[in-house]
Amino acid sequence: MPEIKISPSILSADFANLGHEVRAIESAGCDWVHVDVMDGHYVPNITIGPLVCKSIRPHIKTVMDVHLMIEPADLYLEAFAKAGADHISVHPEACPHLDRTLQVIADLGCKVGVALNPATPASVLTHVMDRLDLIIVMSVNPGFGGQSFLPSQIEKIRTLKSMIGDRDTLIEVDGGINATTAPLVVAAGADVLVAGSAVFGKGGQDESVYAANMQAIRDSVRSE
Ligand code: DX5
Ligand code: ZN
Repeated sequence: MPEIKISPSILSADFANLGHEVRAIESAGCDWVHVDVMDGHYVPNITIGPLVCKSIRPHIKTVMDVHLMIEPADLYLEAFAKAGADHISVHPEACPHLDRTLQVIADLGCKVGVALNPATPASVLTHVMDRLDLIIVMSVNPGFGGQSFLPSQIEKIRTLKSMIGDRDTLIEVDGGINATTAPLVVAAGADVLVAGSAVFGKGGQDESVYAANMQAIRDSVRSE
């Protein structure tokens, strides 16, 4: 199986100590750092905004993988790009003119992503496939870390894999990923795994704990 990437979600990190948390996760060998942005409107939770992204940025060299769960998203794309986002992913329901939004993200110099909720079909992407660097398959309903993986999303990953065809678009799976569920999504075609609670636990731990938690996920996939 090809090497997978791990993008730990800082949603499960210690928010009072984010600098330490992102440095620790990077030294522990993460591939990307996943930032969950929630507005209390599109999803029933409120997290962080561009200011916090900007504060984290100098602490990491790796990719800042920003997942926007906000509506409207268009108003804030530039702010997140300026705050140092490398990837910006949006939800189609929050972007009435999705094709235009994806062009704006690309014009800002960021990799372009779309995130699909569990009930959102792969077919919403049919006519924008050529614009996508990244597709996030939500394997929980967005809003909170620590929820249980929804197996119904495995078939969607397979569908997207075949829609992607020869393109370089990556499939990132987000929600309920751990050493039990990772092999299922990788077998279906996932390239990148977001993991919050399975990597950070309750947060505030040292680098060796995060490294061991990521290794457990990588081992589960290799042993398949
Ligand atoms: C959910 C977020 C996820 C989530 C992942 O809305 O997009 O990134 O926090 O957390 P775990 O891995 O704990 O499900
Ligand atoms: Zn996310």
